[in-house]
Amino acid sequence: MTSPLTIAIDGPAAAGKGTLAKRVAQHYLLPYLDTGLLYRAVGRQIALAGANPDDPEAAGRFARELDLSHLDDPTLRGHEAGELASRVAVHGPVREALVTFQRSFAARPEGAVLDGRDIGTVICPEARVKIFVTASAEVRARRRTDELVAHGRDDVDFDRILAEVRARDERDSGRNVAPLKPADDAHLLDTSQLDIDAAFRAACEVVDRAVVVL
Ligand code: DC
Repeated sequence: MTSPLTIAIDGPAAAGKGTLAKRVAQHYLLPYLDTGLLYRAVGRQIALAGANPDDPEAAGRFARELDLSHLDDPTLRGHEAGELASRVAVHGPVREALVTFQRSFAARPEGAVLDGRDIGTVICPEARVKIFVTASAEVRARRRTDELVAHGRDDVDFDRILAEVRARDERDSGRNVAPLKPADDAHLLDTSQLDIDAAFRAACEVVDRAVVVL
């Protein structure tokens, strides 16, 4: 019997991994979990309660008590929730509290697609396919800027967004617990020169090869 098709997609903020992961999941008819939403939801709960996101124990408590039924709240996808998520994600107690849910999602018999920062390294080191999606900080900041402008924002400043992208990279890669880094056996997919269709085709090639090999 072959193992389920578990696909781990990691990468830095704004690399396009969410869009990619969603399309891959649809294509292979697999359930999809955006694990960033879990950290975003913890950050949001802490902010609502007026607690301190930089306190590991307090943040851990919120993570253990997280209500997972509100992950579809669109405000979780905003910039502020992302910043809070990155801050609470540095704490060991927060990460530990979220492991079981992610691993049981990944262990579904039909397989699954998960995207995040530590899926291939910590959550699913046994995943059949690991893809690490990157793009230069400039390209990611440009995409985010264009996205905001397309949504009608007129106060968008590319240099500020670039600084934020770099600061987020530093925090996510520099933390002690489960830092952002490619697994040794991850396929690197640099999307700096690729549009979403080309990135999707490249990801499918990686998955198809892994499926054929087994
Ligand atoms: O993918 P995202 O932008 O929604 O993630 C928001 C933050 O959550 C990210 O900056 C770091 C944290 N995160 C994490 O540490 N581990 C994950 N698997 C997913 C997200």
